[in-house]
Amino acid sequence: MSEVYESDRYVSEYLLFHYGNAAEILGWENGPVEALDFPVRTVGHFSEGQVERSLDVGCAVGRSSLEMSRASDEVVGIDFSQAFIEAAEKMLDGGVLSCERLEEAKVKSMVEVSAPRGLEMGRVSYEVGDAMNLRDDLGTFDRVHAANLICRLPEPRKFLARLPSLVKVGGELVLATPCTWLEEFTREEHWPEGRTRDWLEKELAGSFKLVDVADEPFLIRETARKFQWTVSLVTRWTRI
Ligand SMILES: C[S@@+](CC[C@H](N)C(=O)[O-])C[C@H]1O[C@@H](n2cnc3c(N)ncnc32)[C@H](O)[C@@H]1O
Repeated sequence: MSEVYESDRYVSEYLLFHYGNAAEILGWENGPVEALDFPVRTVGHFSEGQVERSLDVGCAVGRSSLEMSRASDEVVGIDFSQAFIEAAEKMLDGGVLSCERLEEAKVKSMVEVSAPRGLEMGRVSYEVGDAMNLRDDLGTFDRVHAANLICRLPEPRKFLARLPSLVKVGGELVLATPCTWLEEFTREEHWPEGRTRDWLEKELAGSFKLVDVADEPFLIRETARKFQWTVSLVTRWTRI
């Protein structure tokens, strides 16, 4: 099912989700504005301070990777979608990208988005890759971020099993997941047995210590009048 992320519709949806402002995404003053800027808020769960290397797995069109570059000398963003990585790279080049929004029925509108100013874009690189089979020579990282990824993987345990060799001892891992396990992405035999948080603690035991748990809402615009409001479970871990 990961091919859905190759479509123009999803590229537009994620460009708006990552780079659009309140008026462009929501347009309703009484709407849930606290659910905007999700890729900025998940990165905000790392500790303060400058680090050397960071990794953003399932980075989509790249906003959280850019946010990580504010406090990291080097950031690698990886996503399975070629279309998402191409859009992320255009943003790095200072591009202004158009995204199509569905208003209602056959009525569409265009919005232009660009990356936030004041970032050192040279710190960030993107590549296509599979979270369940990351290349062996990626090296190690001070920070690893994976937002809304694990419940979109066919075999999430393969990604979790790679994490101890990716995060430096003392380094941090931030995982966000809305726990929306669906057969179309992950066969039921690969779902957690119980609650996702308990399953993560079991899978990461011995390599990571859970240091913080939080809830972060996010908003995806479907039409001018219909939105997906979802709450992601955010966990922060230290590599032991
Ligand atoms: C629900 S989106 C979340 C994107 C982004 N992290 C965010 O929070 O907006 C899931 C992302 O995971 C990517 N993805 C799906 N399967 C993947 C895989 N096997 N390896 C790497 N990325 C994958 C998709 O292309 C998509 O960008």
